[in-house]
Amino acid sequence: MQQSATQAYQEYIENNQTRFVEELCNLIRIPSISTDKSYAKDVHQAAEFLKNELIKLGADKVEICPTAGYPIVYGEKMVNPTLPTVLVYGHYDVQPADPLELWTSPPFEPRIADGYIYARGACDDKGQMFMHVKAFEVMMKTGNLACNVKFMLEGEEEIGSVNLETFCKANKDRLKADVILISDTSMIANDVPSITAGLRGLSYLEVEVTSPNRDLHSGLYGGAVANPINILCQMIASLHDENNHITVKGFYDKVVELSAAERAEMAKAPFDLEAYKKALDLTEIHGEKGYTTLERASIRPTLDVNGIWGGYTGQGAKTVIPSKAYAKISMRLVPNQVSSEISDLFQKHFESIAPASVKVKVTAHHGGEPVVTPTDSVAYKAAEMAYNATFGKKPIPQRGGGSIPIVAMFKKELGIDTVLMGFGLDSDAIHSPNEKFGLFNFKRGIETIPLFYKYFAELKK
Ligand code: BES
Ligand code: MN
Ligand code: MN
Repeated sequence: MQQSATQAYQEYIENNQTRFVEELCNLIRIPSISTDKSYAKDVHQAAEFLKNELIKLGADKVEICPTAGYPIVYGEKMVNPTLPTVLVYGHYDVQPADPLELWTSPPFEPRIADGYIYARGACDDKGQMFMHVKAFEVMMKTGNLACNVKFMLEGEEEIGSVNLETFCKANKDRLKADVILISDTSMIANDVPSITAGLRGLSYLEVEVTSPNRDLHSGLYGGAVANPINILCQMIASLHDENNHITVKGFYDKVVELSAAERAEMAKAPFDLEAYKKALDLTEIHGEKGYTTLERASIRPTLDVNGIWGGYTGQGAKTVIPSKAYAKISMRLVPNQVSSEISDLFQKHFESIAPASVKVKVTAHHGGEPVVTPTDSVAYKAAEMAYNATFGKKPIPQRGGGSIPIVAMFKKELGIDTVLMGFGLDSDAIHSPNEKFGLFNFKRGIETIPLFYKYFAELKK
């Protein structure tokens, strides 16, 4: 009897899953931290690893494409021009691992325990990206590649994908596809599959407040000279009002409010506030008045200080009025806010609230636009069917709170919509110590992705 494609996939996965995990661990061992120049060699090595992997699996035109920064690994398999084409995007760079002392085991020595792989990049995004590479293997080795496929794997996602737009503009033809597939987001829970249907944008700025031209004795000058740390704290505190609304002038002007019906639909997603608080050791929840926790973390814009420093922070006490104080501030954006506009509004506002006793300097870092991905497309339908087949449950569309700025850029530059097929969990501690990825999730991803190809090709017929 002829074996169905689905059975062939499953059998291949069962027989090879142990090796898949070992190979992922080999990729994870390369500390490809894009933010830190001292790891540049490792970032390049991760690109090399993926290039070799794609070649080994039979992809064509595999190439390490140089950019002004870290390269993009490209590879494709065009099986038949009449079939739809899937463009897979993922990132092989990772966030720094610090604070190192909070890791139970070294961040780049993957440890497998209680059903998880613990390591930096285990979930974000090496584990999730590698599911696509292994799904490609599964389809190639079983002779069931149902769509053409193109891989575009970058090494600068965690530093704002600064060179990807240039690459896309220069490679419009090569990147032609019917859909972009990305696994770099999370699901609600392992028994509550969901597909991310939107992401927040980002504005990121750094502020510097200067008062005296040098650090001063706090006894000789204290009380008579503005302390830049005191002033910075006052300024930051004023950025939210008593309802936790953001006070930056014009900040909400372009925010699209969800309808009551849309909010009611969102509220149907299972969410346990007590469990949420317990997992984070929170005694009470906090956020913008008038919105639920789920809404605050997805469909509402935010302003947060990511870091603040200045003055003396060494051992013991040093009596000093510092010359300067600094903070890094991020704002998560929702449709239709525009990153550059919000950065400008912030800069103007911040300068306007500075007292005459200090000088302020505001510098903008990278940013990105918010996005809502369609849930009425053929590609979404195919993803829904694929999750339904492997989880035995229809996935819930859910807006995500994080940012993948290139999703909006792909739509703008390439005209292609993305389906965010994430298999991580919010509890995977991405960017945090002890990041992990469930072996269950890694395997489920490898099982679900080939079914997406299968259903996408069938629906597109
Ligand atoms: N994969 C994350 C984004 C993410 C995670 C979205 C989970 C939804 C759910 C991505 O690698 C990331 O960390 N993005 C950065 C933005 C980037 C411009 C540095 C972020 O969201 O802070
Ligand atoms: Mn990340
Ligand atoms: Mn990521």
